[in-house]
Amino acid sequence: MKHILIDCDPGHDDALAILTALANAQKLNIIGITTVGGNQTLAKVTQNAKNVLSFVSATIPLAMGQKGPLVKEFIPSDEAHGQSGMDGPYFKDTAYPIVDENAVHFMYKQIMSVDEKVTIVGLAPLTNIAILLKSYPEIHEKIEAISLMGGGLTHGNMTALAEFNIYIDPEAAHIVFNSNLPIIMAGLDVTEKAAIKVSEIQALKNKGPVSHLAYELLHFYNQSGRQFGFEDSPIHDLCAIAYLLKPALFTGTHYFVTVDTNEGIGRGHTFADKRLTASQKKNTLVLEDVDREGFVELLVKALEKLDEE
Ligand code: BDR
Ligand code: CA
Repeated sequence: MKHILIDCDPGHDDALAILTALANAQKLNIIGITTVGGNQTLAKVTQNAKNVLSFVSATIPLAMGQKGPLVKEFIPSDEAHGQSGMDGPYFKDTAYPIVDENAVHFMYKQIMSVDEKVTIVGLAPLTNIAILLKSYPEIHEKIEAISLMGGGLTHGNMTALAEFNIYIDPEAAHIVFNSNLPIIMAGLDVTEKAAIKVSEIQALKNKGPVSHLAYELLHFYNQSGRQFGFEDSPIHDLCAIAYLLKPALFTGTHYFVTVDTNEGIGRGHTFADKRLTASQKKNTLVLEDVDREGFVELLVKALEKLDEE
């Protein structure tokens, strides 16, 4: 059993990652979910988290974190995830309690309250996680790893080189990658291969309440992805959870990875030192390939399980 804490900005793919983690409660003990401004404003992504959690009658504590990045101004965009940050489904019952303290302090308390080490799952800009590491240095020894969706060694999706989660807050990402903690990086190198096909999305329609919710999420996400040239839908954030559940689905390589925080065309790029003589400690397992069918099956099975509950 792994103890995990999920930091997210739902987001269609965040929602599917949360649902898959919830369905696998025998393997993953979710000790908390925290939100951060990213795919939409903090208020909107928190409402989306509430909607998903109340839909499946979850009881995981949920806390709100930072509104935006450490240094730069944050201007949310409707482009990828719509006006609500998770357009598509309509939620009737949207009540869900919020922990009455900032996510960063909440994360600290939750992690310290568990005897074993905790894995942090980062599905959003890394602002909350960076502040946690800087504010409570003693937390390092309680963290097993940080499994994150972010970056890409070869290309980006916000600029030619920078992926969204890193691009929004490169300073935070720099703190996380240079924290000396083991990082598992599900960047665009692998997440764009972890794509669900239209026929597989269609098969979820009316299958059961949670599968149908996933259908509605993915239907919107698929349509929206077309403006970026995608026919199939990469479920980026799910990779960071899927790796924890079934690492054998993935292959990857350990590198020293850091983040470009300079102004210029490389800002927000995650780059790996691939030299055979690279001297810095290899801090990151960069996921590079995925068994796509196995990945989709993991999602479909998780949704089926939640349908039955
Ligand atoms: C990442 O950006 C967000 O739009 C998604 O939720 C994911 O975390 C992909 O670049
Ligand atoms: Ca996300």
